[in-house]
Amino acid sequence: MQNEGPRYRQIAWQLKTAIEEGKLGAGRRLPSSRVYAQELGVSRVTVENAYGELVAQGWLERRGQAGTFVSEHLTLKPVAVEPTWFGGEEPHPQPFQLGLPALDLFPRALWARMMGRRLRTQTRFDLALGDVCGEMALRQAIVEYLRLSRSIECLPEQVFITSGYAASMSLILRALNGQGQGMWVEDPGFPLIRPVIAREGITLHPIPVDNEGMNVEWALANVSDARFALVTPAHQSPLGVALSLPRRRQLLDWAMHNQAWIIEDDYDSEFRYQGKPLPPLKSLDAPQRVIYAGTFSKAMFPALRTAWLVVPLPLVGAFRELVRQIACPVPIPGQQTLGDFIREGHFWRHLKKMRVHYARRRRWLEEALLAQGFDVVAQQGGIQLVVNISGDDRRLAAQARAAGLAVQAINDWRIAGRGTPGLIMSFTNIVSQNMANEQVAALRRALT
Ligand SMILES: Cc1ncc(COP(=O)(O)O)c(C=O)c1O
Repeated sequence: MQNEGPRYRQIAWQLKTAIEEGKLGAGRRLPSSRVYAQELGVSRVTVENAYGELVAQGWLERRGQAGTFVSEHLTLKPVAVEPTWFGGEEPHPQPFQLGLPALDLFPRALWARMMGRRLRTQTRFDLALGDVCGEMALRQAIVEYLRLSRSIECLPEQVFITSGYAASMSLILRALNGQGQGMWVEDPGFPLIRPVIAREGITLHPIPVDNEGMNVEWALANVSDARFALVTPAHQSPLGVALSLPRRRQLLDWAMHNQAWIIEDDYDSEFRYQGKPLPPLKSLDAPQRVIYAGTFSKAMFPALRTAWLVVPLPLVGAFRELVRQIACPVPIPGQQTLGDFIREGHFWRHLKKMRVHYARRRRWLEEALLAQGFDVVAQQGGIQLVVNISGDDRRLAAQARAAGLAVQAINDWRIAGRGTPGLIMSFTNIVSQNMANEQVAALRRALT
């Protein structure tokens, strides 16, 4: 308890605690400083100072005339949920939480055995720095995996191991001296990567997405001077559509004729439940303009902090040069174990098992949503679902989050203005039809 210090500090501390405990949910508007000052019997300046401190620390954000709000971008301790939803005493994900694979289904005992084996058989040479681009055995395993599963032909020298998508993005933009250049990004699109791109001095150009993915014709007509295009061709994030073949060709053509770079974020293409996927852009990349970004966060687990890039051959030197200064940050025993896991066939088996489970979990959620009258958007793959709703999706999503349900609003994933409202949610950690029904009933209650 913080009872000492200036009054504004105490107020800031109380607000921060309320946010941490989930009593003030993300996106909640705070009372104006005048009203709050009256309520607390302090001066308005005191409240302003408290708000100012929390804005500086990222807990709150100011939205001009609209007022001061609890930040939408906080990662907080999960709030307590009904114990029937997730068994066990471990901290559990919030219902519908995006970006997480099924935490209950990863073969942890096998992983622990394999990691133990690696650690037991370490020699003193394994204590040295290792390859700054990532462990060769892991890069080789990724090359083989990509050849078989994604028809991508590359050499291990083209593969760079990173600690996640954000690190991959920074590496690309630094290696290619992106500062001051423009980038086409999908709108709506994955919001967490935007500040990473902006921090590298890149101007983001939002490009609308329709049922064929990023509207490349629109981009060509409206933003002619971009040097990068960031796309999720397999399964657009968040709308779930695939980039059509004509648009893939147009994009490759544009990159080739303008000396531009395509960044292909293939974040979840391992999970497709019906139909055959279109080949990745990288597999069509004869002109060598595509940088392919993959991650193990979904196919394995996010705590592994391991992702990778496949860069065109002519860029290997520039990437290597940069990586020599910073070195691969992923601990070597983890990389080695992951290489073993792929090479010994466990990765394939795990993915095969997960496709069956995810198709089932997705069906449970879909059925529960349909039973409650929600309009579920048909998608062929991925580990999240979109439902169309009417009304202000940002307000409705904030309402749901205040009730401990981690859904997100499509309009919070947009850059330029508003569009069709909808909610994005994940089904990966729904372990029964019953759980799906309970969570959807809770969502219905929170929205009405
Ligand atoms: C669109 C998209 N790209 C990439 C990633 C991968 O991020 P990371 O490798 O940092 O976990 C995610 C994760 O949620 C994502 O949603």
